[in-house]
Amino acid sequence: MTNWMVAGNWKMNTTSSEAIALAQSVRDATPRLSEGEIVLAPPFTVLSSVNEIVKGSHIKLAAQNIFYEDKGAYTGEISPAMLKDVGCTYVIIGHSERRKYFHETDETVNLKVKKGLGSGLKCIICVGETEEEREKGVMEFVVGIQIKKAMSGIEALDNVVIAYEPVWAIGTGKNATSAEAEEMHHFIRNVLGETYGDVVNKVRILYGGSVTPENIGELIGMKNINGALVGGASLKSETFIGIIKRMTEKR
Ligand code: PGA
Repeated sequence: MTNWMVAGNWKMNTTSSEAIALAQSVRDATPRLSEGEIVLAPPFTVLSSVNEIVKGSHIKLAAQNIFYEDKGAYTGEISPAMLKDVGCTYVIIGHSERRKYFHETDETVNLKVKKGLGSGLKCIICVGETEEEREKGVMEFVVGIQIKKAMSGIEALDNVVIAYEPVWAIGTGKNATSAEAEEMHHFIRNVLGETYGDVVNKVRILYGGSVTPENIGELIGMKNINGALVGGASLKSETFIGIIKRMTEKR
């Protein structure tokens, strides 16, 4: 697959001046690509200013969350129309930090995916097992349910990207080995294949969890790994650019 993606999830980081500087350096140091996509997911407060920097460039904008209603009395929430209005192409849905700290469930993830896709946003859907689930050997069971529930009622895989992010690897410096990640990516593709058939080969499945310029090469050497969702290493332009460079060399 040539259609890879590297997405930077800035989480709850960056003031507007920091965000502008980071987006500018990523934009200026990375080439317009004939294949592959670079995506930045800054916090809501700076989406608009980052959009001013990346619009018309080769970099796409993503939000880190969405609400599943169009408008109304939902204090603190952000609708799909608002995200599109500030230039978002993508939205990240179901990140494990949202599941853990904000009690998102597979059901709310599904509502958000339906609303996001229905509104014309592309969705990066996050799944992944905890350390305890991996130790018990139930990671496929857990991730299989997350995938099926997130995709329930979704007819096509167009505009869907999956991010496999083992919870134990996020922000811990302990990345999954390329073999462990490949096994899960292969499993996820098979689960999707049961519903969607051969088009599943076109779906990008990203790995996330302590990705660095040092480990990305081995990860993306694997058949079913089509890129990365990067947290910590996306906050420094050198490391994020380093990851993108490794990606373009390998592909
Ligand atoms: P990390 O985060 O790269 O800091 O482990 C990944 C993510 O949460 O998307």
